[in-house]
Amino acid sequence: MSNLRDSAPHAASNFPVDRRTRDFLIIGGGIIGLSIALELLLRGTTVTIVSRNFPQAAAHAAAGMLAPQAEQLPPGAMQEFSYFSRSLYADWTAKIEQISGLPTGYWECGILAPVYQVPPEAARGKDWLDAQEIQQKQSGLNPAVAGGWWYPSDGQVDNRLLVQALRSAVLTLGGEILEGEEVKCLKFQGEKLGGMHTSNYFLESDRYILATGAWSQELLPVPIYPKKGQMLAVQVASELSSSLSPNTPELPLQQVLYGEETYIVPRQDGRIIIGATSENVGFRGDNTPQGVLQLLQAAIKLYPDIQNFALVEQWWGFRPATADELPILGASPYSNLALAVGHYRNGILLAPATGYLMANFLLHSPREGQHQQQTPAYFSAFDWRRFAETT
Ligand code: GLY
Repeated sequence: MSNLRDSAPHAASNFPVDRRTRDFLIIGGGIIGLSIALELLLRGTTVTIVSRNFPQAAAHAAAGMLAPQAEQLPPGAMQEFSYFSRSLYADWTAKIEQISGLPTGYWECGILAPVYQVPPEAARGKDWLDAQEIQQKQSGLNPAVAGGWWYPSDGQVDNRLLVQALRSAVLTLGGEILEGEEVKCLKFQGEKLGGMHTSNYFLESDRYILATGAWSQELLPVPIYPKKGQMLAVQVASELSSSLSPNTPELPLQQVLYGEETYIVPRQDGRIIIGATSENVGFRGDNTPQGVLQLLQAAIKLYPDIQNFALVEQWWGFRPATADELPILGASPYSNLALAVGHYRNGILLAPATGYLMANFLLHSPREGQHQQQTPAYFSAFDWRRFAETT
């Protein structure tokens, strides 16, 4: 990346100027923007979110895995951040459910990571299950599975329920969401962001937060690019699912399967999410025969009963990727603009910690009464300047 200052867009407009007072204006109404809004509202500030297209947000396309261990996130800042966020999940979703009155589908179901060849590190792994143990843990796996890892602290949330509940909680707490309002360009004045031209307004605030996911480059030359993921859903046969209730023993899958080239995420209503491809095709939106074939082959190989379930949905989404697969959080080159972008494969997992630590960063202190830490040292690993040219 060159310098974030160089290509900041400018434009003139005669749209009405919206000068309502607000402490924070968040650009982006996906899970990251909403999580930051929730935390800022809980700390007594006023927030407006500008949201171009809520259904398009990556949060709708995700599978909802909370999987820092299964995804083998690298030791250091990313691992600490993701473990912290996972540790917040139970309380965070309970709070969202209480404020909104809506479910989130949070489920501490654990994640099983089966493999077809025993890796050398299996002998040392306390989380390792051999071939017999893993079949006992989850019946119906391919008999060729040689063993696998069991991560009881990983889990899942129903990401579609979660974002609906989160959005409702933000509104309940008095947050303003301008839905269908597109930010056309940011208007910079020297070292500061002076406002933004949107579809219908010129909006102003004291402080701004960019949380625009894979689409961030449309507004600022921040080094984020889309990584497409195709997904499918099947539904277990109705004779199995008709009697299902939460945590029912009748569910054929009792935990997430994180396999080789596929993951399989069972919901408590009998729906099963299968993901995901990982493609560098820009914003090309479609399900391709190759993508669908790849997903079904890998999923049926791992859990053969999948072939008998009803195929109920297919879709795709765009992960906001960075070169080092770490998010960009905190400062920007503009004194009143903060960044919260680039969560790549882990936006759902990292949402609570992003909200919490971004609010610490913006307000210079943790929430009162909160036992959690101040801004930890690892937060600086997510600073945008790691991508700046050193000339
Ligand atoms: N976190 C899973 C994925 O991005 O496919």
